[in-house]
Amino acid sequence: MTEADFAFLRLLLQQRSGLSLSADKRYLAESRLSILCRRRGIADLASLIDQLRYGRNRALESAVVDAMTTNETLFFRDKTPFELFRNVILPERMAANAATRTLRIWCAAVSSGQEAYSLAMLIDEAADRLAGWKIDILGTDISAEILDKARAGVYSQFEVQRGLPIQMLLKHFHQHGDTWRVSERLRAMVEFRQHNLLESSEHFGRFDVIFCRNVLIYFDVPTKMKVLDLLTPRLFASGAFVLGTPETVLGLSTKLAVDPEHRGLHRPVSNIVSASDRFTGREAFAGWRG
Ligand SMILES: C[S@@+](CC[C@H](N)C(=O)[O-])C[C@H]1O[C@@H](n2cnc3c(N)ncnc32)[C@H](O)[C@@H]1O
Repeated sequence: MTEADFAFLRLLLQQRSGLSLSADKRYLAESRLSILCRRRGIADLASLIDQLRYGRNRALESAVVDAMTTNETLFFRDKTPFELFRNVILPERMAANAATRTLRIWCAAVSSGQEAYSLAMLIDEAADRLAGWKIDILGTDISAEILDKARAGVYSQFEVQRGLPIQMLLKHFHQHGDTWRVSERLRAMVEFRQHNLLESSEHFGRFDVIFCRNVLIYFDVPTKMKVLDLLTPRLFASGAFVLGTPETVLGLSTKLAVDPEHRGLHRPVSNIVSASDRFTGREAFAGWRG
């Protein structure tokens, strides 16, 4: 790929998805996009870039974004965020929303669904205490292809061996040959929708919990700031925001702050003032479903 074609590709990815491809990733781009060319019957990388440059082909642009995003994920990835969810966030939201009996969770950049299904399994553990509650788990991603996999909920032996406790595997999955399918019950708890984090998400309404993990790492600083600015108003003022282990809001957002009591948890700044505020649930129903 020529220098000029690679520069064009970097700009396209940056504008369409926020992905910041560093100059040393040319080989990676060439190898991933060569596969795309073969699949689509495009002669070579130069022809692909020409089609992108002059074709105004949105479907092809999306396919290039899909090819260049990293979809790495696993069940209960990094453990701590899920322990926080089970031991801190869920009890807190149950207290805050006791009157409305509603709970809304958003996994932004959910990839193939493991993160959303992990949360659904934890909610299922608390099913007795949540009887009669209306619970929404929304999983979104920019990639239509990866969302098809998330919706199908079918995972290989290798994928279920990564992070999923055996009891949960046996309880929530059915084996079909060498693959495992998430139970109907869990699949019914999660809705998957395509969404680009660079765009407005107002139509999704407001959430008690937003997981936005291991996606900001691929963006440059202005894009990280923009994404956090777009996501923060989607959170109820007493809600919880969870980033990936290598990610932080420090220096990127004036509206979100690290929860001093729980590492890895972020709160809207307006609610950091007093920990007891979190249990009042005073605004928890405002703006429901936008
Ligand atoms: C590494 S995965 C993280 C999956 C999961 N959150 C986790 O932590 O395991 C990153 C995901 O972000 C998605 N992504 C990248 N850019 C995006 C954007 N602009 N909007 C929405 N999703 C995006 C990719 O398609 C990919 O599935």
